[in-house]
Amino acid sequence: MAEGKTARLHLEGKDYDLAVLSPTAGPDVVDIRKLYGDAGVFTYDPGFTSTASCDSTITYIDGDKGELWYRGYPIEQLAAQSHYLEVCYLLLYGELPNPDQLLDFETRVTRHTMVHEQMHYFFRGFRRDSHPMATMVGVVGAMSAFYHDSIDINDPVQREIASIRLIAKVPTIAAMAYKYSLGQPFVYPRNELDYASNFLHMCFSVPAEPYHVDPALSRAMDRIFTLHADHEQNASTSTVRLAGSSGANPFACIAAGIACLWGPAHGGANQACLEMLREIGSVERIPEFLARAKDKNDPFRLMGFGHRVYKNFDPRAKVMKESADEVLDLLGVHNNPTLQVAKELERIALEDEYFVSKKLYPNVDFYSGIILEAMGFPTSMFTPIFALSRTVGWISQWKEMIADPQNKIGRPRQLYVGAPRRDYKPLDQR
Ligand code: ACO
Repeated sequence: MAEGKTARLHLEGKDYDLAVLSPTAGPDVVDIRKLYGDAGVFTYDPGFTSTASCDSTITYIDGDKGELWYRGYPIEQLAAQSHYLEVCYLLLYGELPNPDQLLDFETRVTRHTMVHEQMHYFFRGFRRDSHPMATMVGVVGAMSAFYHDSIDINDPVQREIASIRLIAKVPTIAAMAYKYSLGQPFVYPRNELDYASNFLHMCFSVPAEPYHVDPALSRAMDRIFTLHADHEQNASTSTVRLAGSSGANPFACIAAGIACLWGPAHGGANQACLEMLREIGSVERIPEFLARAKDKNDPFRLMGFGHRVYKNFDPRAKVMKESADEVLDLLGVHNNPTLQVAKELERIALEDEYFVSKKLYPNVDFYSGIILEAMGFPTSMFTPIFALSRTVGWISQWKEMIADPQNKIGRPRQLYVGAPRRDYKPLDQR
Protein backbone atom coordinates (compact mmCIF):
# COMPACT_ATOMS: atom_id res chain seq x y z
CA MET A 1 0.00 0.00 0.00
CA ALA A 2 1.92 3.05 -1.27
CA GLU A 3 1.45 6.46 0.35
CA GLY A 4 2.65 9.83 -0.88
CA LYS A 5 -0.25 11.53 -2.64
CA THR A 6 -2.69 13.68 -0.70
CA ALA A 7 -6.20 14.96 -1.25
CA ARG A 8 -7.25 18.32 0.18
CA LEU A 9 -10.66 18.96 1.71
CA HIS A 10 -11.68 22.60 2.00
CA LEU A 11 -14.26 23.03 4.73
CA GLU A 12 -15.50 26.27 6.31
CA GLY A 13 -12.35 28.19 5.44
CA LYS A 14 -9.90 25.51 6.55
CA ASP A 15 -7.90 22.97 4.52
CA TYR A 16 -7.47 19.38 5.62
CA ASP A 17 -4.88 17.17 3.92
CA LEU A 18 -5.91 13.55 3.60
CA ALA A 19 -3.46 10.78 2.68
CA VAL A 20 -4.21 8.91 -0.53
CA LEU A 21 -3.32 5.21 -0.42
CA SER A 22 -2.45 3.33 -3.61
CA PRO A 23 -3.42 -0.35 -3.78
CA THR A 24 -1.69 -3.11 -5.76
CA ALA A 25 -4.57 -2.84 -8.24
CA GLY A 26 -7.72 -0.75 -8.41
CA PRO A 27 -8.54 2.85 -7.61
CA ASP A 28 -6.67 4.94 -5.02
CA VAL A 29 -8.30 5.29 -1.61
CA VAL A 30 -8.60 8.52 0.36
CA ASP A 31 -7.75 7.83 4.00
CA ILE A 32 -10.40 9.58 6.12
CA ARG A 33 -9.62 7.86 9.44
CA LYS A 34 -8.60 11.12 11.13
CA LEU A 35 -11.27 13.26 9.48
CA TYR A 36 -13.72 13.33 12.38
CA GLY A 37 -10.98 13.99 14.93
CA ASP A 38 -9.46 16.80 12.85
CA ALA A 39 -12.47 18.38 11.13
CA GLY A 40 -15.43 17.17 13.20
CA VAL A 41 -17.35 15.78 10.20
CA PHE A 42 -18.32 12.31 9.07
CA THR A 43 -18.52 11.04 5.50
CA TYR A 44 -21.87 9.81 4.19
CA ASP A 45 -22.03 6.67 2.05
CA PRO A 46 -25.13 4.47 2.51
CA GLY A 47 -24.58 1.08 0.92
CA PHE A 48 -20.80 1.68 1.02
CA THR A 49 -20.74 2.54 -2.69
CA SER A 50 -17.48 4.51 -2.35
CA THR A 51 -16.03 3.20 0.90
CA ALA A 52 -13.21 0.70 1.43
CA SER A 53 -13.96 -0.88 4.81
CA CYS A 54 -10.60 -2.65 5.19
CA ASP A 55 -7.40 -3.56 3.39
CA SER A 56 -7.19 -7.11 2.14
CA THR A 57 -4.79 -9.36 0.22
CA ILE A 58 -7.28 -12.05 -0.70
CA THR A 59 -9.52 -11.21 -3.65
CA TYR A 60 -9.55 -8.51 -6.29
CA ILE A 61 -12.37 -7.52 -8.63
CA ASP A 62 -12.07 -5.13 -11.57
CA GLY A 63 -15.72 -4.40 -12.21
CA ASP A 64 -15.12 -2.42 -15.41
CA LYS A 65 -12.97 -5.09 -17.03
CA GLY A 66 -15.01 -7.98 -15.60
CA GLU A 67 -12.02 -9.55 -13.83
CA LEU A 68 -11.86 -11.58 -10.62
CA TRP A 69 -8.63 -12.81 -9.00
CA TYR A 70 -8.09 -14.97 -5.94
CA ARG A 71 -4.66 -14.04 -4.48
CA GLY A 72 -3.75 -12.67 -7.91
CA TYR A 73 -4.82 -15.71 -9.96
CA PRO A 74 -7.62 -15.09 -12.52
CA ILE A 75 -10.79 -17.05 -11.78
CA GLU A 76 -10.91 -18.50 -15.31
CA GLN A 77 -7.50 -20.18 -14.79
CA LEU A 78 -8.49 -21.54 -11.40
CA ALA A 79 -11.85 -22.82 -12.70
CA ALA A 80 -10.14 -24.60 -15.61
CA GLN A 81 -6.93 -25.88 -14.00
CA SER A 82 -7.33 -26.00 -10.23
CA HIS A 83 -9.88 -27.59 -7.91
CA TYR A 84 -11.83 -26.42 -4.91
CA LEU A 85 -9.65 -27.68 -2.06
CA GLU A 86 -6.54 -26.28 -3.72
CA VAL A 87 -8.40 -22.96 -4.08
CA CYS A 88 -9.37 -23.17 -0.39
CA TYR A 89 -5.70 -23.54 0.51
CA LEU A 90 -4.83 -20.59 -1.72
CA LEU A 91 -7.49 -18.37 -0.15
CA LEU A 92 -6.62 -19.37 3.41
CA TYR A 93 -2.81 -19.30 3.23
CA GLY A 94 -2.06 -16.95 0.32
CA GLU A 95 -0.09 -19.30 -1.98
CA LEU A 96 -0.80 -22.38 -4.07
CA PRO A 97 0.24 -25.49 -2.12
CA ASN A 98 3.05 -27.85 -3.12
CA PRO A 99 2.04 -31.55 -3.37
CA ASP A 100 2.86 -32.29 0.31
CA GLN A 101 1.03 -29.24 1.57
CA LEU A 102 -2.02 -30.10 -0.54
CA LEU A 103 -2.09 -33.69 0.66
CA ASP A 104 -1.78 -32.57 4.27
CA PHE A 105 -4.57 -29.98 3.84
CA GLU A 106 -6.89 -32.44 2.08
CA THR A 107 -6.26 -34.98 4.84
CA ARG A 108 -7.02 -32.42 7.56
CA VAL A 109 -10.27 -31.32 5.90
CA THR A 110 -11.33 -34.90 5.19
CA ARG A 111 -10.74 -35.96 8.82
CA HIS A 112 -13.21 -33.31 10.02
CA THR A 113 -16.18 -34.01 7.74
CA MET A 114 -18.31 -35.80 10.37
CA VAL A 115 -20.40 -33.72 12.75
CA HIS A 116 -20.93 -34.39 16.46
CA GLU A 117 -23.51 -37.17 16.74
CA GLN A 118 -25.58 -35.01 19.10
CA MET A 119 -26.15 -32.64 16.17
CA HIS A 120 -28.44 -35.24 14.59
CA TYR A 121 -30.86 -34.67 17.46
CA PHE A 122 -30.49 -30.92 17.18
CA PHE A 123 -31.81 -31.14 13.60
CA ARG A 124 -34.97 -32.83 14.79
CA GLY A 125 -36.10 -29.61 16.48
CA PHE A 126 -36.70 -28.02 13.08
CA ARG A 127 -39.90 -28.38 11.09
CA ARG A 128 -39.43 -30.69 8.10
CA ASP A 129 -40.62 -27.97 5.73
CA SER A 130 -38.07 -25.40 6.95
CA HIS A 131 -35.99 -23.75 4.25
CA PRO A 132 -32.52 -25.40 4.38
CA MET A 133 -30.99 -21.90 4.78
CA ALA A 134 -33.04 -21.41 7.97
CA THR A 135 -31.74 -24.72 9.26
CA MET A 136 -28.17 -23.87 8.27
CA VAL A 137 -28.19 -20.51 10.05
CA GLY A 138 -29.28 -22.31 13.22
CA VAL A 139 -27.01 -25.35 12.98
CA VAL A 140 -23.84 -23.51 11.91
CA GLY A 141 -24.45 -21.00 14.73
CA ALA A 142 -24.85 -23.97 17.10
CA MET A 143 -21.40 -25.27 16.13
CA SER A 144 -20.00 -22.99 18.83
CA ALA A 145 -21.96 -25.06 21.34
CA PHE A 146 -20.59 -28.33 19.92
CA TYR A 147 -16.99 -27.26 19.25
CA HIS A 148 -16.26 -24.84 22.07
CA ASP A 149 -12.66 -26.04 22.17
CA SER A 150 -11.99 -23.94 19.05
CA ILE A 151 -13.67 -20.62 19.82
CA ASP A 152 -10.82 -18.74 21.47
CA ILE A 153 -10.16 -16.22 18.70
CA ASN A 154 -6.90 -15.09 20.32
CA ASP A 155 -5.33 -18.52 19.90
CA PRO A 156 -4.03 -19.02 16.33
CA VAL A 157 -4.18 -22.82 16.73
CA GLN A 158 -7.88 -22.68 17.66
CA ARG A 159 -8.55 -20.28 14.78
CA GLU A 160 -6.93 -22.79 12.43
CA ILE A 161 -8.94 -25.72 13.81
CA ALA A 162 -12.19 -23.74 13.58
CA SER A 163 -11.38 -22.88 9.93
CA ILE A 164 -10.79 -26.50 8.99
CA ARG A 165 -13.90 -27.61 10.89
CA LEU A 166 -16.06 -25.10 9.06
CA ILE A 167 -14.75 -25.98 5.58
CA ALA A 168 -15.14 -29.69 6.36
CA LYS A 169 -18.48 -29.70 8.17
CA VAL A 170 -20.60 -27.07 6.43
CA PRO A 171 -21.18 -29.40 3.40
CA THR A 172 -22.22 -32.15 5.81
CA ILE A 173 -24.64 -29.74 7.50
CA ALA A 174 -26.04 -28.53 4.14
CA ALA A 175 -26.58 -32.14 3.02
CA MET A 176 -28.21 -32.98 6.36
CA ALA A 177 -30.56 -30.00 6.00
CA TYR A 178 -31.56 -31.36 2.59
CA LYS A 179 -32.03 -34.94 3.79
CA TYR A 180 -34.04 -33.71 6.76
CA SER A 181 -36.39 -31.78 4.48
CA LEU A 182 -36.96 -34.96 2.45
CA GLY A 183 -37.56 -37.14 5.49
CA GLN A 184 -34.63 -39.36 4.45
CA PRO A 185 -31.90 -40.63 6.80
CA PHE A 186 -28.76 -38.55 7.12
CA VAL A 187 -25.88 -39.93 5.04
CA TYR A 188 -22.46 -39.98 6.68
CA PRO A 189 -19.51 -38.54 4.75
CA ARG A 190 -17.19 -40.90 2.89
CA ASN A 191 -13.61 -39.82 3.30
CA GLU A 192 -12.24 -41.69 0.29
CA LEU A 193 -14.29 -39.38 -1.94
CA ASP A 194 -13.12 -35.96 -3.06
CA TYR A 195 -14.85 -32.89 -1.56
CA ALA A 196 -17.45 -32.40 -4.33
CA SER A 197 -18.18 -36.13 -4.79
CA ASN A 198 -18.64 -36.50 -1.05
CA PHE A 199 -21.20 -33.68 -1.05
CA LEU A 200 -23.13 -35.29 -3.94
CA HIS A 201 -22.95 -38.62 -2.10
CA MET A 202 -24.33 -37.11 1.14
CA CYS A 203 -27.17 -35.41 -0.79
CA PHE A 204 -28.21 -38.14 -3.22
CA SER A 205 -27.34 -41.55 -1.83
CA VAL A 206 -29.67 -43.61 0.34
CA PRO A 207 -28.77 -46.57 2.56
CA ALA A 208 -30.99 -48.90 0.51
CA GLU A 209 -28.84 -48.98 -2.63
CA PRO A 210 -25.35 -48.17 -3.90
CA TYR A 211 -24.75 -44.70 -5.33
CA HIS A 212 -22.11 -43.97 -7.91
CA VAL A 213 -20.92 -40.37 -8.23
CA ASP A 214 -20.40 -39.44 -11.88
CA PRO A 215 -16.89 -37.88 -12.04
CA ALA A 216 -18.02 -35.35 -14.67
CA LEU A 217 -20.84 -34.14 -12.41
CA SER A 218 -18.48 -34.02 -9.49
CA ARG A 219 -16.13 -31.87 -11.58
CA ALA A 220 -19.03 -29.50 -12.44
CA MET A 221 -20.00 -29.33 -8.75
CA ASP A 222 -16.39 -28.58 -7.82
CA ARG A 223 -16.29 -25.76 -10.37
CA ILE A 224 -19.45 -24.23 -8.87
CA PHE A 225 -17.76 -24.32 -5.45
CA THR A 226 -14.62 -22.68 -6.90
CA LEU A 227 -16.53 -19.90 -8.66
CA HIS A 228 -18.34 -18.98 -5.44
CA ALA A 229 -15.39 -19.34 -3.05
CA ASP A 230 -14.76 -15.64 -2.38
CA HIS A 231 -15.80 -12.25 -3.69
CA GLU A 232 -14.06 -9.59 -1.57
CA GLN A 233 -16.12 -7.25 0.62
CA ASN A 234 -19.68 -8.16 -0.45
CA ALA A 235 -22.65 -7.96 1.95
CA SER A 236 -22.22 -11.37 3.62
CA THR A 237 -18.42 -11.09 3.90
CA SER A 238 -18.75 -7.62 5.40
CA THR A 239 -21.32 -9.09 7.80
CA VAL A 240 -18.83 -11.79 8.84
CA ARG A 241 -16.11 -9.16 9.34
CA LEU A 242 -18.40 -6.83 11.28
CA ALA A 243 -19.64 -9.66 13.52
CA GLY A 244 -16.04 -10.82 14.02
CA SER A 245 -14.78 -7.32 14.81
CA SER A 246 -16.55 -7.51 18.18
CA GLY A 247 -14.63 -10.68 19.04
CA ALA A 248 -17.54 -13.04 18.31
CA ASN A 249 -16.48 -16.65 17.70
CA PRO A 250 -15.99 -17.89 14.12
CA PHE A 251 -19.05 -20.18 14.08
CA ALA A 252 -21.30 -17.29 15.15
CA CYS A 253 -19.69 -15.05 12.49
CA ILE A 254 -20.22 -17.59 9.69
CA ALA A 255 -23.84 -18.07 10.80
CA ALA A 256 -24.26 -14.28 10.46
CA GLY A 257 -22.78 -14.49 6.95
CA ILE A 258 -25.20 -17.27 6.01
CA ALA A 259 -28.14 -15.18 7.26
CA CYS A 260 -27.04 -12.24 5.13
CA LEU A 261 -26.40 -14.41 2.08
CA TRP A 262 -29.98 -15.68 2.16
CA GLY A 263 -31.43 -12.38 0.85
CA PRO A 264 -32.69 -12.35 -2.77
CA ALA A 265 -30.45 -9.37 -3.64
CA HIS A 266 -27.42 -11.52 -2.69
CA GLY A 267 -27.08 -15.32 -2.54
CA GLY A 268 -30.82 -15.92 -2.67
CA ALA A 269 -30.78 -14.61 -6.25
CA ASN A 270 -29.90 -18.06 -7.67
CA GLN A 271 -33.16 -19.52 -6.37
CA ALA A 272 -35.11 -16.41 -7.38
CA CYS A 273 -33.52 -16.49 -10.85
CA LEU A 274 -34.51 -20.07 -11.65
CA GLU A 275 -38.03 -19.41 -10.34
CA MET A 276 -38.18 -16.35 -12.62
CA LEU A 277 -36.94 -18.31 -15.66
CA ARG A 278 -39.56 -20.98 -15.00
CA GLU A 279 -42.26 -18.33 -14.62
CA ILE A 280 -41.27 -16.76 -17.94
CA GLY A 281 -41.57 -20.29 -19.32
CA SER A 282 -41.22 -19.57 -23.04
CA VAL A 283 -39.22 -17.28 -25.29
CA GLU A 284 -42.44 -15.51 -26.41
CA ARG A 285 -43.04 -14.13 -22.90
CA ILE A 286 -39.59 -12.51 -22.56
CA PRO A 287 -40.65 -9.03 -23.80
CA GLU A 288 -43.42 -8.92 -21.16
CA PHE A 289 -40.92 -9.57 -18.35
CA LEU A 290 -38.31 -7.19 -19.77
CA ALA A 291 -40.98 -4.47 -19.83
CA ARG A 292 -41.75 -5.19 -16.18
CA ALA A 293 -38.05 -5.03 -15.25
CA LYS A 294 -37.82 -1.58 -16.85
CA ASP A 295 -41.05 -0.25 -15.30
CA LYS A 296 -40.19 2.05 -12.35
CA ASN A 297 -43.61 1.33 -10.80
CA ASP A 298 -43.07 -2.43 -10.82
CA PRO A 299 -40.75 -3.84 -8.12
CA PHE A 300 -39.84 -6.77 -10.44
CA ARG A 301 -36.14 -7.03 -11.27
CA LEU A 302 -34.45 -9.35 -13.68
CA MET A 303 -32.88 -11.79 -11.23
CA GLY A 304 -29.34 -12.86 -12.05
CA PHE A 305 -28.74 -9.51 -13.75
CA GLY A 306 -26.79 -6.56 -12.44
CA HIS A 307 -24.09 -6.28 -9.84
CA ARG A 308 -22.81 -3.57 -7.52
CA VAL A 309 -19.24 -3.96 -8.75
CA TYR A 310 -19.34 -5.57 -12.20
CA LYS A 311 -20.24 -3.06 -14.87
CA ASN A 312 -19.20 -5.60 -17.47
CA PHE A 313 -19.69 -9.37 -17.71
CA ASP A 314 -19.35 -11.20 -14.41
CA PRO A 315 -16.43 -13.52 -15.33
CA ARG A 316 -18.05 -16.26 -13.25
CA ALA A 317 -21.18 -16.09 -15.42
CA LYS A 318 -19.12 -16.86 -18.54
CA VAL A 319 -17.67 -20.03 -16.98
CA MET A 320 -21.09 -20.96 -15.60
CA LYS A 321 -22.72 -20.62 -19.02
CA GLU A 322 -20.18 -23.03 -20.57
CA SER A 323 -20.70 -25.40 -17.65
CA ALA A 324 -24.47 -25.32 -18.16
CA ASP A 325 -24.05 -26.53 -21.74
CA GLU A 326 -21.59 -29.25 -20.69
CA VAL A 327 -23.68 -30.54 -17.79
CA LEU A 328 -26.92 -30.67 -19.75
CA ASP A 329 -25.14 -32.48 -22.61
CA LEU A 330 -23.65 -34.92 -20.15
CA LEU A 331 -27.03 -35.64 -18.63
CA GLY A 332 -28.56 -36.00 -22.10
CA VAL A 333 -30.89 -33.04 -21.51
CA HIS A 334 -31.42 -31.47 -24.91
CA ASN A 335 -33.55 -28.40 -25.63
CA ASN A 336 -33.96 -27.59 -21.95
CA PRO A 337 -36.67 -24.88 -22.01
CA THR A 338 -35.24 -22.99 -19.03
CA LEU A 339 -31.79 -22.81 -20.65
CA GLN A 340 -33.38 -21.65 -23.90
CA VAL A 341 -35.27 -18.89 -22.07
CA ALA A 342 -32.09 -17.89 -20.21
CA LYS A 343 -29.97 -17.63 -23.36
CA GLU A 344 -32.62 -15.70 -25.27
CA LEU A 345 -33.29 -13.41 -22.30
CA GLU A 346 -29.57 -12.69 -22.02
CA ARG A 347 -29.31 -12.00 -25.78
CA ILE A 348 -32.26 -9.60 -25.82
CA ALA A 349 -31.31 -7.82 -22.57
CA LEU A 350 -27.73 -7.25 -23.76
CA GLU A 351 -29.09 -5.41 -26.82
CA ASP A 352 -31.69 -3.44 -24.89
CA GLU A 353 -30.99 0.26 -24.28
CA TYR A 354 -32.15 0.09 -20.62
CA PHE A 355 -29.75 -2.74 -19.68
CA VAL A 356 -26.92 -1.43 -21.88
CA SER A 357 -27.06 2.10 -20.47
CA LYS A 358 -27.17 0.85 -16.86
CA LYS A 359 -24.38 -1.67 -17.58
CA LEU A 360 -26.46 -4.59 -16.38
CA TYR A 361 -24.93 -7.95 -17.31
CA PRO A 362 -25.65 -11.52 -16.19
CA ASN A 363 -24.09 -12.34 -12.83
CA VAL A 364 -22.96 -15.71 -11.42
CA ASP A 365 -26.52 -16.65 -10.49
CA PHE A 366 -27.95 -16.41 -13.98
CA TYR A 367 -26.81 -19.88 -15.10
CA SER A 368 -25.91 -21.64 -11.83
CA GLY A 369 -29.51 -22.61 -11.03
CA ILE A 370 -29.91 -24.35 -14.40
CA ILE A 371 -26.88 -26.54 -13.68
CA LEU A 372 -27.93 -27.31 -10.11
CA GLU A 373 -31.46 -28.19 -11.19
CA ALA A 374 -30.11 -30.51 -13.90
CA MET A 375 -27.98 -32.22 -11.23
CA GLY A 376 -31.14 -32.93 -9.24
CA PHE A 377 -31.08 -30.20 -6.59
CA PRO A 378 -34.34 -28.47 -5.67
CA THR A 379 -34.27 -24.65 -5.81
CA SER A 380 -34.24 -24.44 -2.01
CA MET A 381 -30.74 -26.01 -2.02
CA PHE A 382 -29.19 -23.45 -4.37
CA THR A 383 -28.41 -20.86 -1.70
CA PRO A 384 -27.10 -23.46 0.81
CA ILE A 385 -24.67 -24.62 -1.91
CA PHE A 386 -23.56 -21.01 -2.36
CA ALA A 387 -23.12 -20.75 1.43
CA LEU A 388 -20.99 -23.88 1.67
CA SER A 389 -18.81 -22.70 -1.23
CA ARG A 390 -18.39 -19.23 0.31
CA THR A 391 -17.50 -20.53 3.78
CA VAL A 392 -13.80 -20.61 2.87
CA GLY A 393 -13.94 -17.00 1.66
CA TRP A 394 -15.68 -15.84 4.82
CA ILE A 395 -13.25 -17.70 7.05
CA SER A 396 -10.19 -16.43 5.11
CA GLN A 397 -11.44 -12.85 5.44
CA TRP A 398 -12.24 -13.36 9.12
CA LYS A 399 -8.76 -14.81 9.79
CA GLU A 400 -7.13 -11.94 7.92
CA MET A 401 -9.07 -9.44 10.03
CA ILE A 402 -8.34 -11.13 13.38
CA ALA A 403 -4.61 -11.39 12.62
CA ASP A 404 -4.43 -7.69 11.69
CA PRO A 405 -2.99 -5.67 14.62
CA GLN A 406 -5.04 -2.66 13.45
CA ASN A 407 -8.31 -4.58 13.87
CA LYS A 408 -10.91 -2.69 15.90
CA ILE A 409 -14.64 -3.06 16.36
CA GLY A 410 -16.59 -1.93 13.27
CA ARG A 411 -18.78 1.00 14.17
CA PRO A 412 -20.24 3.04 11.30
CA ARG A 413 -21.59 6.51 12.10
CA GLN A 414 -24.84 8.01 10.81
CA LEU A 415 -26.51 11.12 9.48
CA TYR A 416 -29.28 11.57 12.04
CA VAL A 417 -32.46 12.96 10.44
CA GLY A 418 -34.94 12.10 13.24
CA ALA A 419 -36.79 14.35 15.66
CA PRO A 420 -34.77 17.04 17.46
CA ARG A 421 -34.53 16.79 21.25
CA ARG A 422 -37.99 16.94 22.85
CA ASP A 423 -39.50 16.30 26.26
CA TYR A 424 -41.52 13.26 27.20
CA LYS A 425 -45.28 13.84 27.58
CA PRO A 426 -47.28 11.70 29.99
CA LEU A 427 -49.92 9.48 28.37
CA ASP A 428 -52.88 11.68 29.41
CA GLN A 429 -51.36 14.70 27.63
CA ARG A 430 -50.91 13.09 24.16
N1 ACO B 1 -33.34 -5.58 -13.26
C1 ACO B 1 -33.80 -4.35 -13.62
N2 ACO B 1 -33.21 -3.19 -13.26
C2 ACO B 1 -32.10 -3.26 -12.50
C3 ACO B 1 -31.56 -4.50 -12.09
C4 ACO B 1 -32.22 -5.68 -12.49
N3 ACO B 1 -31.75 -6.88 -12.13
N4 ACO B 1 -30.46 -4.27 -11.33
C5 ACO B 1 -30.31 -2.94 -11.26
N5 ACO B 1 -31.30 -2.33 -11.98
C6 ACO B 1 -31.45 -0.88 -12.18
C7 ACO B 1 -32.04 -0.23 -10.94
O1 ACO B 1 -33.44 -0.14 -11.00
C8 ACO B 1 -31.37 1.14 -10.98
O2 ACO B 1 -32.08 1.93 -11.91
P1 ACO B 1 -32.19 3.54 -11.68
O3 ACO B 1 -30.78 4.04 -11.73
O4 ACO B 1 -33.03 3.99 -12.82
O5 ACO B 1 -32.82 3.73 -10.34
C9 ACO B 1 -29.99 0.87 -11.58
O6 ACO B 1 -30.15 -0.34 -12.36
C10 ACO B 1 -28.91 0.64 -10.54
O7 ACO B 1 -29.39 -0.34 -9.62
P2 ACO B 1 -29.05 -0.34 -8.08
O8 ACO B 1 -30.06 -1.19 -7.37
O9 ACO B 1 -28.85 1.04 -7.60
O10 ACO B 1 -27.66 -1.08 -8.10
P3 ACO B 1 -26.99 -1.79 -6.91
O11 ACO B 1 -25.53 -1.80 -7.21
O12 ACO B 1 -27.41 -1.18 -5.61
O13 ACO B 1 -27.62 -3.27 -6.94
C11 ACO B 1 -27.97 -5.56 -7.30
C12 ACO B 1 -26.97 -4.40 -7.38
C13 ACO B 1 -28.61 -5.63 -5.89
C14 ACO B 1 -27.21 -6.86 -7.52
C15 ACO B 1 -29.05 -5.36 -8.36
O14 ACO B 1 -28.48 -5.31 -9.66
C16 ACO B 1 -30.13 -6.45 -8.31
O15 ACO B 1 -31.08 -6.33 -7.52
N6 ACO B 1 -30.03 -7.52 -9.17
C17 ACO B 1 -30.95 -8.61 -9.12
C18 ACO B 1 -30.61 -9.54 -7.97
C19 ACO B 1 -29.38 -10.36 -8.23
O16 ACO B 1 -29.20 -10.96 -9.29
N7 ACO B 1 -28.52 -10.44 -7.20
C20 ACO B 1 -27.29 -11.22 -7.26
C21 ACO B 1 -26.10 -10.36 -7.15
S1 ACO B 1 -24.65 -11.32 -7.36
C22 ACO B 1 -24.48 -12.15 -5.89
O17 ACO B 1 -24.84 -11.73 -4.83
C23 ACO B 1 -23.88 -13.45 -6.00
